[in-house]
Amino acid sequence: MKAGNEAAGAANAAPAKTQPEQLPVRINDKPYYPDGDPQMPLLWYLRDVLRLTGTKFGCGIGACGACTVLIDGKAARACLTPMQAVSGRAITTIEGLEGAQLHPVQQAWLEHDVAQCGYCQAGQIMAAIDLLARKRKPSDDDIGEIANLCRCGTYPRIRSAIQRAAVLMAEGNS
Ligand code: FES
Ligand code: FES
Repeated sequence: MKAGNEAAGAANAAPAKTQPEQLPVRINDKPYYPDGDPQMPLLWYLRDVLRLTGTKFGCGIGACGACTVLIDGKAARACLTPMQAVSGRAITTIEGLEGAQLHPVQQAWLEHDVAQCGYCQAGQIMAAIDLLARKRKPSDDDIGEIANLCRCGTYPRIRSAIQRAAVLMAEGNS
């Protein structure tokens, strides 16, 4: 009798809802399954949840570029990117460049002593990596299209460092 009731109950049960499979967001090659507010800006998730504080908060409105990260290899403003937009995508932050050797852009940055206060520099480096992935020999105009601000005015050194990084990458130091 009990088995019959169970069978009847099972027959009347609503079909199990299939949940869409959540794709992980890969951050610096590790998978994460964020379960918070899907509207949370990626910048908050990086800094406040994962404590990846190399990516900086500047303006919060997409104007300064301090929060620049790579999303699927392309420079993007983390302050304007909601978490729901990065499901299944690959994020690289400045911490993700860490390896046995410096990334050639970081090497060039050191050679040209680019940073002053340093606040904007993680974003500048990520923007430079994006540019060099698209243009192996960027012109001055190409570099000028990077819309990241530096209140210390390190633009001439950024320009020189990007040209130097292009040489290092052509030599195979990537
Ligand atoms: S903090 Fe994102 S662009 Fe300024
Ligand atoms: S080095 Fe100070 S804001 Fe760019």
